[in-house]
Amino acid sequence: MNVPDIIIAVDGFSATGKSSFAKLAATEMSFIYLDSGALYRAVTLFALENSLIAEDGTIDEAGLADALPGLDIHFERTDNGSETHIGSRSVEKAIRGMEVSSHVSPVSAIPFVREFVDGILHEAGKAGRVIMDGRDIGTTVFPDAQVKIFMTADVEIRTQRRYDELKAKGENPDYEEVKKNLLERDYIDSHRETSPLSRAVDSYEMNNSDMTLHEEIVWLRGLLQGKFGILDA
Ligand code: DC
Repeated sequence: MNVPDIIIAVDGFSATGKSSFAKLAATEMSFIYLDSGALYRAVTLFALENSLIAEDGTIDEAGLADALPGLDIHFERTDNGSETHIGSRSVEKAIRGMEVSSHVSPVSAIPFVREFVDGILHEAGKAGRVIMDGRDIGTTVFPDAQVKIFMTADVEIRTQRRYDELKAKGENPDYEEVKKNLLERDYIDSHRETSPLSRAVDSYEMNNSDMTLHEEIVWLRGLLQGKFGILDA
């Protein structure tokens, strides 16, 4: 696709397929794909591994605030995309499990954690030609993004997708637990004080409950053609 050097922000609820869509769109348009949720997940993994989250879920905020400035979280390119790293260690698999999923929303609600992640995202976005997915990309991180997409999907469909994903990764998920986790995260993500998940007024909504990934890309092509008058989008 012959798309100008723009930033595309993709936001939406958990498991709406933002990353699958953004990843494929990036490949089609020769854009860089950035997964902002992976950074919150990596911070959460670090906190879990360093006993900064107690059994009852209480977060040692002072300890985390001390540790964050020295924490090296970054993406490394691989043959088929990129992997999230803490220092030299790939944490791509570890950050996708249920343990991290059940603690990431409270961690990402902490303002200094958001500042830390936003710093990494702003740096990465400088180059342009970026498609970034998350919860507040179009509202807070890149409010001037030229294209903003807000993704939604039926909760049962989202649960089934996340369930299948975990199964494929060798976990043994419980459907109701997966659904509960999604709904809890939706609630915390959209009710926190600092940059809650909300639909940017200038975003285009895509409900992909009944769409294939291919249809989502066709939808994007139509949007870009209409917006930029690109003939070969
Ligand atoms: O997209 P994800 O499910 O991997 O994101 C994990 C969590 O990170 C999500 O529950 C909320 C948080 N998050 C956020 O607060 N802001 C973002 N831009 C991206 C993710």
